[in-house]
Amino acid sequence: MLRHFLLFLLKINKFPYKLALNLCVLASGSGTNLKAILNAAKQRKISSKVVLVISNNSKSGALKTASKNKITSFHLSQKQFNSEEEFTSKLLSLFKKHKVDMILLAGYMKMLSPQIIRKFRNRIINIHPALLPAFGGKGMYGINVHEAVLKAGVKTTGATVHFVDEVYDNGAIVIQKEVPVKPGDDAEKLRKRVLRTEHRLYPQAIRLFEEKKVSLRNNKVFIRTPK
Ligand code: GAR
Repeated sequence: MLRHFLLFLLKINKFPYKLALNLCVLASGSGTNLKAILNAAKQRKISSKVVLVISNNSKSGALKTASKNKITSFHLSQKQFNSEEEFTSKLLSLFKKHKVDMILLAGYMKMLSPQIIRKFRNRIINIHPALLPAFGGKGMYGINVHEAVLKAGVKTTGATVHFVDEVYDNGAIVIQKEVPVKPGDDAEKLRKRVLRTEHRLYPQAIRLFEEKKVSLRNNKVFIRTPK
């Protein structure tokens, strides 16, 4: 009887509990966003679990963090494979084996293959250290973004979590948060300030997916607000 009632609630999308998603984090760099996601899970700010970490950089901080936290992790770079197809099928088989629901790019410095994007359509998100569509696109990653922001003289920058599609930094924007550019900033100071915002923003985005609040219409994200 109870089971039928729960199934009914699930069907009408009114199930009061959050979804716990199996997350795969792809990272190339220091991995502080991965750390922030793991901390959010420890503090029960999100219910999802990082089940897999993959880095194309053997020296990535993300791999160290993963092993410290006993999370299955792999150093996988295309150079280890004979072709892009082989690399892609290795990634896809790992996603399948670990029952990955969502892929999170956190400073992953490689474009995902169209096959992965198709297979995980609307289930791959990325964090970008600026307010997209400003300061995005090819070559706009890491410190380059903050240097471009300072060069442009804008007074506000920020962080963006967006869906990943076939075009670099192009997918629909899920959430953004502004960060002030302060007089006397250099790129490194700005990077650190934006990063602190990223660390709050990524878990917030995950939570929106857990709560099934994210919907897409005409390549725009709508966040369902409580009635
Ligand atoms: C983050 O600032 C992230 O926004 C950026 O790389 C950094 C990774 O830091 N990503 C991009 O620039 C993608 N275009 P982390 O390794 O400490 O999480």
